[in-house]
Amino acid sequence: MDRRRFVLGAAALAGGALLPAAALAKVPSPYGVDLLPPLDDREAFIVWMKANRGEDPTFLGQRFDRYLQLLEHRDLFTPADKRAFLMTPREEFALKQNAARVYDRAFLDIGYGVTISGPNLVGRMTSSLAVKRGDRVLEIGTGSGYQSAYLSYLTDKVFSIEIIKPLAERTRKNYDRLIDAGYTEYATISTRNDDGYYGWEEAAPFDKIVVTCGIDHIPPPLLKQLKPDGIMVIPVGPPGAQHVLKVTRRTQADGTVTVDRADIYRGSIVPFVPFTKLEGTEIKGTHDQ
Ligand SMILES: C[S@@+](CC[C@H](N)C(=O)[O-])C[C@H]1O[C@@H](n2cnc3c(N)ncnc32)[C@H](O)[C@@H]1O
Repeated sequence: MDRRRFVLGAAALAGGALLPAAALAKVPSPYGVDLLPPLDDREAFIVWMKANRGEDPTFLGQRFDRYLQLLEHRDLFTPADKRAFLMTPREEFALKQNAARVYDRAFLDIGYGVTISGPNLVGRMTSSLAVKRGDRVLEIGTGSGYQSAYLSYLTDKVFSIEIIKPLAERTRKNYDRLIDAGYTEYATISTRNDDGYYGWEEAAPFDKIVVTCGIDHIPPPLLKQLKPDGIMVIPVGPPGAQHVLKVTRRTQADGTVTVDRADIYRGSIVPFVPFTKLEGTEIKGTHDQ
């Protein structure tokens, strides 16, 4: 199994063309943790983002409108969560044919039979992780790369694993394109093509883990790679009918490891794509027991 970080050649854009097709202009202001867009004024946000990040005002307006809905649904908990949502250009991670729907609430196709989760869901899952600056965060299921891009506005140590090789390559190539265009924050994201069930041993332990595919149990290797009091957000349940759990790892006085569980949607079912399994170099079935 190839456990190295990707070194990219000319990976084909199989599975659909990304948006936008044209090369980005250089981002005007270099990234820093002190970059803070206006959080409470749509017009001021658009003007600030256009000046500092060089982004398209149409998408910026749609992003702010979706942000207001996330606030209404209590999907963003802290000013840091709000900033991370507003800084992440979701349009850079979607397929061209979905340009008009990038900021819709629903999930969208990203090719290879998988999806980019809807913005409300990504917002709530990420807020539930309570990421602090400097946290080591592991994502299982890189997909489009949107979730890890979002995480990079909360910490500078993001690790992400994707099982579908051509998708992992396409997303790696997209991050590299964005880094070249001035989104230097994405240089803090390490990616790899592998079966995420076993975590990322060399980069462990993690403060936080987010799993973006559904499974019927908590993978023991992931729990093992979580620090004491670390948090994992993971969709757990039968195929297509998961509950999104916030799992906190606890170590008892006698050394035994237990977990606290909370359902971040208080009982609502949220369907996810399956947590699939790699056998040799082929994806075969799932990790469900
Ligand atoms: C909902 S999608 C991706 C969402 C993604 N976080 C994003 O921002 O676009 C879930 C992803 O998990 C991946 N996946 C499924 N099983 C996996 C496994 N065993 N290891 C790593 N990734 C897996 C799928 O291929 C898919 O890309």
